[in-house]
Amino acid sequence: MNLFTCPICKERFEKSGNSLVCPNKHCFDLSKRGYVNLLRPSKSGAVRHGDDKLMVESRKSFLNAGFYAPLANAITEILREKAPEHATVLDAGCGEGYYTVETKKALQTDLVYGVDVSRDAVHAASLRDKSLRLAVASIFDLPVPMESIDVLLNLFAPYDSAEFSRVLKEGGLLVRAFPAERHLWELKCAVYDTPYENEIDSFLLDGFEMIEKKSISFPLNLTTQTDIDALFKMTPYYYKTSREGQARLAALQSLQAHAEFYLAVYQKSTK
Ligand SMILES: C[S@@+](CC[C@H](N)C(=O)[O-])C[C@H]1O[C@@H](n2cnc3c(N)ncnc32)[C@H](O)[C@@H]1O
Ligand SMILES: [Zn+2]
Repeated sequence: MNLFTCPICKERFEKSGNSLVCPNKHCFDLSKRGYVNLLRPSKSGAVRHGDDKLMVESRKSFLNAGFYAPLANAITEILREKAPEHATVLDAGCGEGYYTVETKKALQTDLVYGVDVSRDAVHAASLRDKSLRLAVASIFDLPVPMESIDVLLNLFAPYDSAEFSRVLKEGGLLVRAFPAERHLWELKCAVYDTPYENEIDSFLLDGFEMIEKKSISFPLNLTTQTDIDALFKMTPYYYKTSREGQARLAALQSLQAHAEFYLAVYQKSTK
């Protein structure tokens, strides 16, 4: 049974053939890979495609090479310790599904949902694991009922504390990851004349109590141009870098860099 709700009337879907249909007969077809596109045109008319195919493919190749395995291990270790048995998980901004699948394996649960605004990302996640329950939808309008989720992942993606609070069960867990001040500093130094540190958002989230905060740092030993290229293209830096900067990077044969992240674990506050 699928938790997904209709983006038009918010009622639960039933599966009917290759479609999801709500009680008000709004109908959304499932793709061949089993995911559904629930994205509605935004009220402002703004286009929201999320990561494009090049970013998705680059991230998939970089993550599959295991470079961020220490972060995946830190996340799954926390979840093994803190998540309830048979947890229902939602990865909000799941991308191409690397951490979604690692979480599914660690928690041995089949109730793993992923939502991303990028169809290319959701398609790639469905190729990673067809049993993931996937929808193209926005973090700001999650297509699941209130208080239906035990564990919410929000990794390197936008967040919406009110929406996260709505969908989490009482006492549910939220795990967020984001880049620390000097994440990939060496990469920035190789590309920019004047590299800037990342600005860090507040750790405080309305409606949540932070129960754990970790700094995670590990070396990245990139010995091929393919790996350097994949790392660069999976980040927003790629589109913000001048041709000159891109040429500097293309000339590098190897790069010693550091990944530096913050991992913050929250519990939904009791009312
Ligand atoms: C840096 S990637 C991280 C993907 C994945 N969590 C990971 O760590 O590999 C950010 C993801 O957020 C998605 N995204 C951006 N805005 C979004 C929104 N409003 N709703 C859902 N996903 C969004 C992008 O399409 C992209 O896949
Ligand atoms: Zn409906």
